[in-house]
Amino acid sequence: MTGTGTDTIEDAEDAEDAEEPLTDGGAAGADEVALDPWGSSSVSDYRKLFEEFGIEEFDELLADLPHPHYLMRRGVIFGHRDYRPVLEAMREGDPFAVLSGFMPTGDPHIGHKLVFDEIIWHQEQGGDAYALIADLEAHAARGLTWDEIDEHARDYLLSLLALGFDLEDGTVYRQSTEREVQDLAFELGIEANFSELGAIYGFDGETDVSHMQSVVTQMADILYPQLEGPKPTVIPVGPDQDPHVRLARDLASRMRYFGVTTAYASFEATEDELSVIGAAYDARESYADDPDQPRCVEAAQWLESGGTGVTEVETVEEDARDRAISKLENAGMEPLRPRTRFLNRRATEEAFEALIDTVEGEKRVFDEHVDAFDLDHDEAAEIARTIELAHDGYGFQPPSSIYHRFMTGLTGGKMSSSIPASHISLLDDPEDGYDKVKAATTGGRETAELQRELGGRADECPVYELYAYLLAGDDDEFAKRVYDECVGGERLCGDCKEQAAHLMKEFLREHQEKREEVADLLEAADIELESPRRG
Ligand code: TRP
Ligand code: SF4
Repeated sequence: MTGTGTDTIEDAEDAEDAEEPLTDGGAAGADEVALDPWGSSSVSDYRKLFEEFGIEEFDELLADLPHPHYLMRRGVIFGHRDYRPVLEAMREGDPFAVLSGFMPTGDPHIGHKLVFDEIIWHQEQGGDAYALIADLEAHAARGLTWDEIDEHARDYLLSLLALGFDLEDGTVYRQSTEREVQDLAFELGIEANFSELGAIYGFDGETDVSHMQSVVTQMADILYPQLEGPKPTVIPVGPDQDPHVRLARDLASRMRYFGVTTAYASFEATEDELSVIGAAYDARESYADDPDQPRCVEAAQWLESGGTGVTEVETVEEDARDRAISKLENAGMEPLRPRTRFLNRRATEEAFEALIDTVEGEKRVFDEHVDAFDLDHDEAAEIARTIELAHDGYGFQPPSSIYHRFMTGLTGGKMSSSIPASHISLLDDPEDGYDKVKAATTGGRETAELQRELGGRADECPVYELYAYLLAGDDDEFAKRVYDECVGGERLCGDCKEQAAHLMKEFLREHQEKREEVADLLEAADIELESPRRG
């Protein structure tokens, strides 16, 4: 699931208590895993996602987005990883892509609609749009048969098209038939090993090989839009998918032929050592015999004696300082001199040779790196990517993501596919949709008098969520009016639900009509609707 409410995530403290039976090495076995793509629990505190996982707050980007979607404006899309490059591309009219995937394990429901809408919105903003059916994952990780998968896959795709996905301009595919995805997955698998998957997902010796393969397949999905050339790509998902996003970002960098860093001498240094050495370089006036040519050993002595007055040096971990000092000491009389370094990570021999030839100005060539003295970081990064692409490399950019909140179930608690009354399927009979909303739990008070006096609790009300996430559509004023009237005590739950139920019925009716209208489009589309696979 794309984190749509049926799949929810464990918050860090609850992770160990989760007692979901896991048949083939899901994440609950690993204490340190708190975001679980195949688990089942709920986010109790979104703030933790920022603090513990480094997800960034989406709000901070809102002002820079030309026409934010209502899900962004209303905080339903609450977090992101590295969305800026996508935002910039959108503003500049440069290429960018959006991709998400759906495990066809049941009917598409109103939680999935959030993701459909996110894909479609990015497509409307000029992005290359991709939607995929994660059938391999559903088969391997959830044990669905191919017949079941085919049926659900068609339903997801019909709803996606009915909501406005433009097939002429966008791409839909299923994992099982997309040869390029399989091939890319195989290549990516070379950069990921079992211990790593174990640490991330809690896989162990009992985990099915195909389940693991579905992970590298998802990595390939996420990078697929960049097979046509590197570009910013956003993956809209629920926060339960964040481990996948982090791994994909890692793999994207690991696949690169060259790394580009700054260096000050011929030896290699880690990021934290570099910040110490950089600070020592900046302070050269205060210790070098000849400040035009400070020596490594002089910098080492200065650092040894405390390197006073320089915050970078004082705040960095002692350990990094010691490592920097010993490297500088070893380099002895070598001059300390800033340069841009190309590290050879996994380039072919020809690509490395070509890089060496391309670097202009003063350069120094080592076994596994080239130092350029007349190039800044951005120029160097550009050269590195160009050479990589010219020599059969991918040149991937790390993919970005946006995260939306899970919807609360209509019966309170979490929205779950296995509790029909808790969610509304996009295929529900409109009358049933109406009834489910009428029967929903609310944030209302015990009596009408109390409600008038104290106001309702819209923030804890699944019915208000329906308005904000779906029923109010783009109409912010309407959503706000419902909210204000509720908390102001002017709105009573009976009428409020009646209105919501009616809107839901209308929505379902129209949506289902549109599904029928787009059926032919889907038949004509370049996607296999019936899998020839067995089992
Ligand atoms: N794992 C996702 C889910 O459980 C489905 C998926 C497969 C996906 N490939 C993807 C999601 C690529 C986003 C991007 O729903
Ligand atoms: Fe929820 Fe509406 Fe009742 Fe407010 S009035 S608590 S929004 S059902």
